[in-house]
Amino acid sequence: MDTKDALRAGLRSTPKYLPVWYRYDKAGSVYNDRCLMENTFYYFYKSEISILANNIKEIIPDLAEAPHLVDMGSGNSEKTRGFIDALLQKHGHIQYLPVDISEEFLSSVSDQISEIYGSKLTIKSVPGDYDIGIEKLSGMPGIKLITWLGGGFQNQSYEDQVRRLKLLSNVMTEECRLIISLDITDDKEQIENAYLDPTGISADLYRNAINRLNREYGSSINTATLVLEAEYIHNDRPEETSYVTLCGVSQEKRTHDIPGLGITINLEKDERFYLHEGKGLSCKYSIKQIQTLGLCGGLHLEHYWTDTSNHVAVCCFSTKKNS
Ligand SMILES: C[S@@+](CC[C@H](N)C(=O)[O-])C[C@H]1O[C@@H](n2cnc3c(N)ncnc32)[C@H](O)[C@@H]1O
Repeated sequence: MDTKDALRAGLRSTPKYLPVWYRYDKAGSVYNDRCLMENTFYYFYKSEISILANNIKEIIPDLAEAPHLVDMGSGNSEKTRGFIDALLQKHGHIQYLPVDISEEFLSSVSDQISEIYGSKLTIKSVPGDYDIGIEKLSGMPGIKLITWLGGGFQNQSYEDQVRRLKLLSNVMTEECRLIISLDITDDKEQIENAYLDPTGISADLYRNAINRLNREYGSSINTATLVLEAEYIHNDRPEETSYVTLCGVSQEKRTHDIPGLGITINLEKDERFYLHEGKGLSCKYSIKQIQTLGLCGGLHLEHYWTDTSNHVAVCCFSTKKNS
């Protein structure tokens, strides 16, 4: 579905929503980086960094030949640099394929990474949706080490998580590995604080989807009239996950023209305007749910590493059944 159709579908649905990926243009990517650094309630970043720093040698599989490093939703590539450094130490040269929908940001990060590593790293950036990145892998020879870091994976609907794991498992051989960081936190207050973010920094990131709609399609929705609300929903069922709902609650009844999309929407007073597709975003998992998710996607959870606070599991999946 193209961007305009996806936006129209969300704005015409009940309840109305904007997809999570739409918040990530260049401004959104800059806000995302600011949140990581300044939202002191966002435990995920600190936990993930500590797991990678303490275990990177073990996380990277021992491979006979240099793998292609594929980075799904690469963002600023900060965490992937640990993988690049360790792989270069062992293999001398590798190919790096960062995949990201935030095209301008991807291009400037790729330039920076290229300057740092020079000819030791061949960078083949893939601007666009995750599906475009996965498509590029089919038929590509060689071993692939695929990373999906920073919570991007768990921001998709469960259906998209399973669908994309299946697509990935189809392009992975037995030597390939998929490394995904997943949130295993189960503390409602900590989770809601990370999202509602009493420091106020994250609001700019969430509201960027609406501000981007205003910039790109000529609407004038005033984000100050949408009060942000986040709620953690716990779910133990093995083929589902816990998740967070995130919306702006409209403080007034108002009609909004969106000329670039050729539609008009009505927001009622107290109506919830969701900032994600599907039931929620930022899924939270038990280890059992992670194993089940992998199996639904045709993958086996080989190993996982956690931090001392048990917030994050960095998970290694393969297509092998008995490793
Ligand atoms: C939460 S950030 C994580 C960034 C980085 N991997 C990190 O660890 O900090 C998610 C990243 O995925 C990208 N992204 C979100 N939805 C996407 C999609 N549907 N296709 C491709 N990239 C997407 C965003 O632009 C953003 O850079």
